[in-house]
Amino acid sequence: MTSDSSNPSQAAHGKFISFEGIDGAGKSTHIGFVAGLLEAHGKSVVSSREPGGTPLGEALRDVLLHQKMHLETEALLMFASRREHMAQVIEPALARGDWVISDRFTDASFAYQGGGRGLDLAKLEALEHWVHPQLQPDLTLLFDVPLDVARTRLDATRTLDKFEQEQTVFFANCRTEYLRRAAQFPQRIVVVDSTRSIEETRRTLTAIVEKLLEL
Ligand code: TYD
Repeated sequence: MTSDSSNPSQAAHGKFISFEGIDGAGKSTHIGFVAGLLEAHGKSVVSSREPGGTPLGEALRDVLLHQKMHLETEALLMFASRREHMAQVIEPALARGDWVISDRFTDASFAYQGGGRGLDLAKLEALEHWVHPQLQPDLTLLFDVPLDVARTRLDATRTLDKFEQEQTVFFANCRTEYLRRAAQFPQRIVVVDSTRSIEETRRTLTAIVEKLLEL
């Protein structure tokens, strides 16, 4: 962020970008590219992920991705990981003036625990208000692809974790909730058509990120 002499209290703050999308949408392919773009503009970048991002968060991630549990337990542990991540990583980095890139944040809880598992969205809203009443990403990049494309990409690349083993209807509901959030928060969430080539997507990302750098 360029220094803003009209608002000195904001001047030191970096910006927060989250990456979202259903499993197989391709977000991981582009995280390093966006980090590189920011660094090329002189920003100090902290790249992290959820669930995870701290030693406790990574321990929770291991449990969350491999053990079956009640859907409310799952939501609570996601937000526990997030609380720690904010305290230890996100807030200190932003206060130092670093830019933070997080591979997933609260929109993923709405999409997966809300859309996918069917948890009452009001409960997720309550957790969101509890854990981060003020903070939201400055920009959320939502990588969007049809379900069959996501499934083909997933099957081609790896051993599937607990979420990735879910059925098509689960991901259809996750995607619907992601797109509902994008419509609800159009200033923050940009939907990126991730069916295109990596090069085309990179051009789109460059334009989006350069706009954010100018703000
Ligand atoms: P993912 O970014 O897909 O990790 P990887 O690319 O290494 O597989 O994230 C792990 C999973 O966690 C993903 O399937 C979505 C899920 N998840 C939730 O269900 N709720 C959440 O709040 C978050 C942050 C992630």
